[in-house]
Amino acid sequence: MSQDIIVDYHGYTCQITLNRPDKRNAINFPTLLELKEVIRKLHYAPKVRTVVITGAGEKAFSAGADLKERVGMSQLEVKEFLYTIRNLLTDIENLPMPVIGAINGLALGGGTELALACDIRLASDRATMGLTEVALGIIPGAGGTQRLARLIGRGKAKELVFTGRKVEAKEALSLGLVNEVVKQEELVKRSLEMAEVINNNGPIAVQQAKFAINQGLEVDLKTGINIEAKAYEVILPTKDRLEGLAAFKEKRKPEYKGE
Ligand code: COA
Repeated sequence: MSQDIIVDYHGYTCQITLNRPDKRNAINFPTLLELKEVIRKLHYAPKVRTVVITGAGEKAFSAGADLKERVGMSQLEVKEFLYTIRNLLTDIENLPMPVIGAINGLALGGGTELALACDIRLASDRATMGLTEVALGIIPGAGGTQRLARLIGRGKAKELVFTGRKVEAKEALSLGLVNEVVKQEELVKRSLEMAEVINNNGPIAVQQAKFAINQGLEVDLKTGINIEAKAYEVILPTKDRLEGLAAFKEKRKPEYKGE
């Protein structure tokens, strides 16, 4: 396996780094397949409680699809690439544990779409984001039109998608496109710190909360509340729930085992 994707573990956190810095971490087919395999395994990784996704180098999170590779592709191959990246980003969104996108620089096209598939986005003060596809005569093809509109509202999403305008970190924050802006050199540290806070909470509870929010937002309120009720029922028989109560009573920090 090549090293287009680097995987590191920090306790319960899995850090995934896109590693083509000299190509601004553009995503070609081999990178896509490598990332797909890493994500597939994370669906069955009980020791991983959070995931952080970032890009290598100081310049880019990801400049999106590899446009040099794209030039040589047939229509059918482009279709296959889009099918693969679209499903991969949905797989990332559907990971049981929270995913933090640490946007360390440029995130264009598929780079912003990847960030949008994360649960939480932290941006470096040098980050620039944009769904710039229409300038290339195409549209976002990995959920960008859908996720951006759901995250920041249809009016702003339409403006950004139709114009292809890039936004700096500060504007991304004011739009609600990112959760926080952090100094470049602090970004990964801050992301891992946030992950650590999440890791210390009941892992089954966090996963069920993610499930309830993700599934519930796509349906009417009554159905959403029913989804939340079912998610709670998953937690009821867990040892972690009893550990939370015991720790409260004994005035100590809980030690959750994900059981
Ligand atoms: N696909 C393939 N290669 C890319 C790339 C992409 N999306 N983005 C950057 N690269 C490559 C460049 O071709 C260059 O490679 P080279 O050194 O072999 O020529 C290298 O990364 C550095 O890019 P460069 O343009 O010199 O760096 P920069 O910092 O001045 O600009 C960008 C960076 C990202 C602003 C610019 O490269 C760009 O606009 N890329 C296209 C981004 C885009 O439109 N993405 C949407 C895809 S749908």
